[in-house]
Amino acid sequence: MNSLTISSTTPLRVAARPQSLFCLAARSYSGVTPTTFYGSFRVNRRSSPVAYSSKRLISSTPQNQIKEYFPPPQTPGVKEVQSAWVHPVYTESQMRTIQIAHRDATNWSDWVALGTVRIFRWGMDFVTGYKHPEPGQELDAKFKMTEKKWLARFIFLESVAGVPGMVGGMLRHLRSLRRMKRDNGWIETLLEEAFNERMHLLTFLKLAEPGWFMRFMVLGAQGVFFNGFFLSYLISPRICHRFVGYLEEEAVITYTRAIQELEDGKLPEWNTLEAPEIAVQYWQMPEDKRTMKDLLMYIRADEAKHREVNHTLGNLVQATDPNPYQTQYQDPTKEHPSKGMENLKGEGWERKDIF
Ligand SMILES: [Fe+2]
Ligand SMILES: [Fe+2]
Repeated sequence: MNSLTISSTTPLRVAARPQSLFCLAARSYSGVTPTTFYGSFRVNRRSSPVAYSSKRLISSTPQNQIKEYFPPPQTPGVKEVQSAWVHPVYTESQMRTIQIAHRDATNWSDWVALGTVRIFRWGMDFVTGYKHPEPGQELDAKFKMTEKKWLARFIFLESVAGVPGMVGGMLRHLRSLRRMKRDNGWIETLLEEAFNERMHLLTFLKLAEPGWFMRFMVLGAQGVFFNGFFLSYLISPRICHRFVGYLEEEAVITYTRAIQELEDGKLPEWNTLEAPEIAVQYWQMPEDKRTMKDLLMYIRADEAKHREVNHTLGNLVQATDPNPYQTQYQDPTKEHPSKGMENLKGEGWERKDIF
């Protein structure tokens, strides 16, 4: 498969909104979905504006009550919509090598970025009642993560994660127009990162439906974060890339914990859950590697790539250095930054090792 297509496959839909702070309704792609996961949900009464057809639709919910976030194109004559950005293929062994990593803060600007991420992380954990266990620590029952809590967390965080790349790409685009100078390749990588984060969000939205409170939180967070990041990027793009690098370190930690819990049997509902069709197509997932665990492995690998890319960009001269991920190097025998998982560096590439 060479290109991304957003297909019209409709998921099994099992109704509605729970009462928790971050409200979610659940969807599944598996024909053997355990019923207990949906036990506390009530039926969603919203009607759908589009008609559906899917071989996977196995639901007692009437079809006209199913909400589709990304309905198939309704324009006459259109079969499907393709993306300009084709995701590089990751192998299983590459994804297994992903490690939690941390780049030491060595100067005041690093500390500004790291301090801001730590405040964000602390605030998010405090508000959502999340606790990250120390190695070997068993958390109290109230801090135990369920499938529903994980999806709520992923959806909120991915909705925020799609902002920095778009802001950075937009500002560099405008700067190029304004100064009538080329950008040397940064814009595409930044916009592609934003696209990739949005694909993470859309994938999770195929598995769960946010309620009004979550939507309100996403709206508020986007309003604040977009403007804050926009102003910060005008002042210091270098600190902003370092900030995203540290943010992605946290994303890798979060997904690593979720994968570990899934492997430890603590998330039984996900044992039989298949990755949504949108994910299968985007990551070009092999036929025997389309479980929820595989999906989390792909997403974690993406986050590790963002971690590397942003720490690397934070090491460069912002105004003049070319984007090392779009560069053709004179010496191809030397290791260089790449678009895929090859030569991945958790702490980013130092400028002297690239140019
Ligand atoms: Fe993400
Ligand atoms: Fe990310």
